Amino acid sequence: MSNRANTNIVVCDDFDAASRHVASRIANAIATTPKIVLGLATGSTPVGTYRELVHLHHEGKLSFANVTTFNLDEYIGLGPEHPQSFRSFMQQQLFDHVNVDARRTHVPNGLADNPATEGKIYEDSIVAAGGIDLQLLGIGSNGHIAFNEPGSPRDSRTRAVDLTPSTVEANSRFFDSIDDVPKLAITMGIGTIMEAKQIILMACGQGKAEAVARSIEGSVDESIPASHLQLHGDVTYVLDIQAASKLSAIDTIVNRDV
Ligand code: F6R
Repeated sequence: MSNRANTNIVVCDDFDAASRHVASRIANAIATTPKIVLGLATGSTPVGTYRELVHLHHEGKLSFANVTTFNLDEYIGLGPEHPQSFRSFMQQQLFDHVNVDARRTHVPNGLADNPATEGKIYEDSIVAAGGIDLQLLGIGSNGHIAFNEPGSPRDSRTRAVDLTPSTVEANSRFFDSIDDVPKLAITMGIGTIMEAKQIILMACGQGKAEAVARSIEGSVDESIPASHLQLHGDVTYVLDIQAASKLSAIDTIVNRDV
């Protein structure tokens, strides 16, 4: 049985409107709590959100001076300078354009000799920072969150994981060839994510509609990792119309807030 009543859903007209909406939620959270600890995602979904945050910063409306960040994941085998690493992505999309203190930005070390030790170090750093206040998530078309692929346990922590062939295929668009896509990653676990005080999951496009509907309206099941979020008390899905299109009774829950 689904716990849909626990889930806030905001449906926006399109990707740009959803990006503005998520950015304004993050900006408000930073304004309220300047020393906020943010959990951040990579991929296509947050690109517009980061663009908006950079814009707000350049307008003098947003300071990252006291913000701490923890990214969800990193490819194993790619160093921070590698153009396809998630560290590079974050530098290009956000960190290089705002006044965040580099020492307070964290991305798992994809070159760690021992990923299990790196996972423990990462978890300890999150705890030392006071825990994640606001976690931004995307979702895979297979329902993954971070790189917690179907079958990931609810109590999983930051660890090394194998990527599924569908995730490797989806992410190959960022690489010259699918053979260049790493098959392993280090990722925060579902248990790690569930400890964030507040979660925003953003999803856009028809390709996410099935995963979104099953996550919100299906039963809580390891086959759809995002369905675990039904058991978190403060989750907001920010969707475009296409990503919301397979939700039942959409008319009754549309909160057209752009
Ligand atoms: C990224 C991440 C992934 C993506 C997901 C969606 O840090 O952890 O779970 O959020 O694969 O990717 P996009 O946004 O590219 O569709």
